[in-house]
Amino acid sequence: MEVTPSILTADFCKLGETLDDAVAAGINWIHMDVMDGNWVVNKTITFGPALIKSVRERLGNDVFIDCHLMISNAEETWNQYVEAGVDMVIAHIEAVDDFPDLIRKIQSTGTQIGCVLNPDTPVSKVTPLLSELDLVLVMSVVPGKGGQSFMPQVEEKVRELRSAIDIQEESGGKTPILMIDGGIKHHNAAIVRDWGIDIAVVGSGLINETGSISQNLEEIQKALEGDQSTH
Ligand code: DX5
Ligand code: ZN
Repeated sequence: MEVTPSILTADFCKLGETLDDAVAAGINWIHMDVMDGNWVVNKTITFGPALIKSVRERLGNDVFIDCHLMISNAEETWNQYVEAGVDMVIAHIEAVDDFPDLIRKIQSTGTQIGCVLNPDTPVSKVTPLLSELDLVLVMSVVPGKGGQSFMPQVEEKVRELRSAIDIQEESGGKTPILMIDGGIKHHNAAIVRDWGIDIAVVGSGLINETGSISQNLEEIQKALEGDQSTH
């Protein structure tokens, strides 16, 4: 299982150095959480395309950047994120009226598309789209801020998606990557890996006061190596 940092808990005045540290620690995928002050329940604003463009310029093209859009008008504004240089746009199924149309439009620009489900949203909402998507993201917190507690009740949903994706793979179809986001730390990384997650977003577990990104990443990697069980 791979790990990608969310920069939400970073000191934004030191963001460049933080990103350099992440890359030096071996990170090759950055997850950028966009909130517009409207869509998430706590009405938070984080950042938009301008910051993402600066991050792309700083990191060059070797690092994969996704933007997780927690916004009301993704259908109208997705192109701003593509122009800012993201490799993948991840939009919420709950926030988009015509998801198949959004998939077509974003993929026509050569950008990848992911679909994210809130903890309470059933898998059936995304199953019809699986063969078109590059990634499916399951939220393991209610979106809105970093540092929240992991919701173990999403296990069934993750396992259901894993088996739907595996079945699709056996039939030779295109298969999305399976991602999880929210409350992942060194103590539960192996658990979600065993559920079948391919890549975990880690925010406060990587960028925090207790250790450097490389120390925190090493702790997570050790936890993943320590448990030899397979799924
Ligand atoms: C929540 C965001 C997450 C989150 C991750 O709305 O999408 O990416 O901030 O942070 P942690 O790992 O601290 O839960
Ligand atoms: Zn996120």
